[in-house]
Amino acid sequence: MKNKITLKKLQRMKLEGEKIVMITAYDALFASIFNEYVDIILVGDSLNMSFAGKADTISATLDQMIYHTQVVSHKSNRSFVLFDMPFGTYPNPDVALQNAVKVYQNSGADAIKLEGGAEKADVVKHLTQNSIAVFGHIGLQPQKVRSEGGYSIKGKSEDAKQGIINDALALQEAGVVAMIIEGVKPDVAKAVSKAVDIPVIGIGAGASCDGQVLVWSDMLGLYDEFTPKFVKQYLEGRELIGKAVKEYRDDVKLGTFPSDKHTY
Ligand code: KIV
Repeated sequence: MKNKITLKKLQRMKLEGEKIVMITAYDALFASIFNEYVDIILVGDSLNMSFAGKADTISATLDQMIYHTQVVSHKSNRSFVLFDMPFGTYPNPDVALQNAVKVYQNSGADAIKLEGGAEKADVVKHLTQNSIAVFGHIGLQPQKVRSEGGYSIKGKSEDAKQGIINDALALQEAGVVAMIIEGVKPDVAKAVSKAVDIPVIGIGAGASCDGQVLVWSDMLGLYDEFTPKFVKQYLEGRELIGKAVKEYRDDVKLGTFPSDKHTY
């Protein structure tokens, strides 16, 4: 497609100070809506929570992610499509490449994303040397929820802040084309965005990043398990949908649906 968002365009946006807008999607219907408005659609492993109802992202599988990315890609002819490598699929360079090739060949994704800092530089380097475009994901990394015993804001001390900046620099050096920074104080995200030449997209990281990402079911007010402080709800989706379905139920119970208008 002519207006398709490319890596070159994302890089230009960073240089020109135009904010990058990213949202998650897991299906073709919502992708077809978001495609018109956002630069990047992330098929996040958060689908394991908001789509599959699980407590965390850990049990999402590569095949599930490929299926969801296929259907999203099918309806995303403008937005850049980003595939989130699920837990356990990139433990070393060779396994990561094998899985990333499968993703590239079967999902329609434009790039993949993986969590981790400097310790993942060898994986990133191997992928990029084999023509896979990689986004990093630093700061709070949801795939560490079980090993760290929960979610917590990262980079609170000066040492920890410097550690995150070092992660960003190591990933850039290894070849990532962009990165997500999650769950850090705004000064950390600001320092990272300044330190690297590639786009840095924030979630729960303040306003200084080169772009923002939100999980679609959070920002549309559909996911009610918990709402983090950083989520702005642009719609009271759960309430609105509940109201519509209640109306439908009442119509059916009362016999007012279907009326003549909805009958052949
Ligand atoms: O899985 C996801 O939706 C993500 C975002 C939180 C960035 O990784």
